Amino acid sequence: MNYNPFILNGKTILVTGASSGIGKSTAIECSKLGAKLIITGRNEQRLKETFELLVGNDHALLLADISEATGIDLLSDNLPQLNGVVHCAGVSKRLPLKFIKEESVSELHKINFIAPLMLTQKLYKKKLLLPESSLVYISSVASSYASIGSIMYMSSKGALNSFVKGLAFEVSTMKIRANAIQPGMILTELSPILSDDDKLKDSELYPLGRYGKPEEVAWAAIYLLSDASKWVTGSILTIDGGLTLR
Ligand SMILES: NC(=O)c1ccc[n+]([C@@H]2O[C@H](COP(=O)([O-])OP(=O)(O)OC[C@H]3O[C@@H](n4cnc5c(N)ncnc54)[C@H](OP(=O)(O)O)[C@@H]3O)[C@@H](O)[C@H]2O)c1
Repeated sequence: MNYNPFILNGKTILVTGASSGIGKSTAIECSKLGAKLIITGRNEQRLKETFELLVGNDHALLLADISEATGIDLLSDNLPQLNGVVHCAGVSKRLPLKFIKEESVSELHKINFIAPLMLTQKLYKKKLLLPESSLVYISSVASSYASIGSIMYMSSKGALNSFVKGLAFEVSTMKIRANAIQPGMILTELSPILSDDDKLKDSELYPLGRYGKPEEVAWAAIYLLSDASKWVTGSILTIDGGLTLR
């Protein structure tokens, strides 16, 4: 028996930030479950590396800087109709309050919050989101879990979470779903540079005793993309090994 409600056969999925970390893993894991992938990012070499690791055929790769309107136009002009999108592209920058400049806030919010909003709007207006499609946004537990220097990042992810709830309500008329995943620490290019000792101490704050892995976020995205989550919309799914329980 081949019963699997998480299968992605026949679904075309766009993954942003697919050249690294969580986006790369999400694209690879989705391809293993039968999806046709369109992967995007700015770094051509790293995007090609992801492309080579995709399972199956008919995938595509598009280079675009989605913090710019021209990048979003370029992407949307070359996309087929989609059954799902996983917005992984994001950046992190730490600055304590007294050192924050308006340009730094704008730069970070542009990619973490404004880019997913404007890309979603473009896909919606161009009718590239098929009825019953699923939109997944990678937020962060940092949206409401404070640490020194994280005000800019926290606020970008808090805005993203609120956007997802508003969006889920608006697009429900098309039976399109929108959900966010908020992970705790996953070691990727985006992670803060810590010594092995500090990593060990920090990971001990997690009740499950370790940081997460990119594929553990990817599997949650697969659930939200698949028919298994057909009645789930407007949710913010926390994946943090229990970090925010206390
Ligand atoms: N790692 C963590 O601990 C963690 C925890 C919670 C949430 N998150 C969130 O998860 C998402 C993925 O993070 P990650 O850890 O996988 O980071 P990562 O390894 O640094 O990957 C970030 C990705 O974003 C892309 N990107 C950045 N700016 C872009 C732009 N202007 N246009 C297009 N693509 C752009 C990068 O592509 P190029 O390099 O090709 O430009 C890269 O593929 C982010 O939204 C992050 O906030 C991460």
